[in-house]
Amino acid sequence: MKFFIDTANLDQIAEAEQLGVLDGVTTNPSLMAKEGITGTENILKHYVDICNIVDGDVSAEVVATDFDNMVKEGEELAKLHDQIVVKVPMIKDGVKALKYFSDNGIRTNCTLVFSPGQALLAAKAGATYVSPFLGRLDDISTDGLNLIAEIRQIYDNYGFETQILAASIRHTMHVIDCAKIGADVMTGPLSSITGLLKHPLTDIGLEKFLADYRKGNS
Ligand code: E4P
Repeated sequence: MKFFIDTANLDQIAEAEQLGVLDGVTTNPSLMAKEGITGTENILKHYVDICNIVDGDVSAEVVATDFDNMVKEGEELAKLHDQIVVKVPMIKDGVKALKYFSDNGIRTNCTLVFSPGQALLAAKAGATYVSPFLGRLDDISTDGLNLIAEIRQIYDNYGFETQILAASIRHTMHVIDCAKIGADVMTGPLSSITGLLKHPLTDIGLEKFLADYRKGNS
């Protein structure tokens, strides 16, 4: 399972990268705004800054919603760096754009996916990644994990190569559950990655090992 971090915060990206387990980064317009990154020039520069920190795919989202402008924007984003994956929303023109990008060798991440039918369309259009939003479904009392499982089954039935990128991950149990189901990638906040480290028995055990060592070596 690949680990992506879902943030535009350079310090957090660097921290995850230094841990040695980071495979990529996802961003979206809200995450960019949260970091105060505004204006086309600053936004494009920020994507390059992210690519220079992480050794892996970096999703950069188009903000156009019509085919022509999505293509124009996506081509500009893809030219920024070879790690860039163009993030395209699951709307009608988005599906057309996914197909265009796929035919033209530009990698894509189909975002805002909330149903198996949308995921099937994204795969048919040749998306590199599909992003089902697990946490946002859980937020409205709908089983987000079940969506991941349904997409896994559909993709396996037909051998689609589109990778399932479990998005809107909120905590460590989402990560574990997605790994059990067989999601190819997860993207979440830094805490969903570092939280996997924690177990009280590890801390207690280490404390005891070190205390015993000190007893015999002081
Ligand atoms: C996916 O790529 C999105 O950026 C993201 O995972 C959305 O997560 P949220 O629901 O926590 O905003």
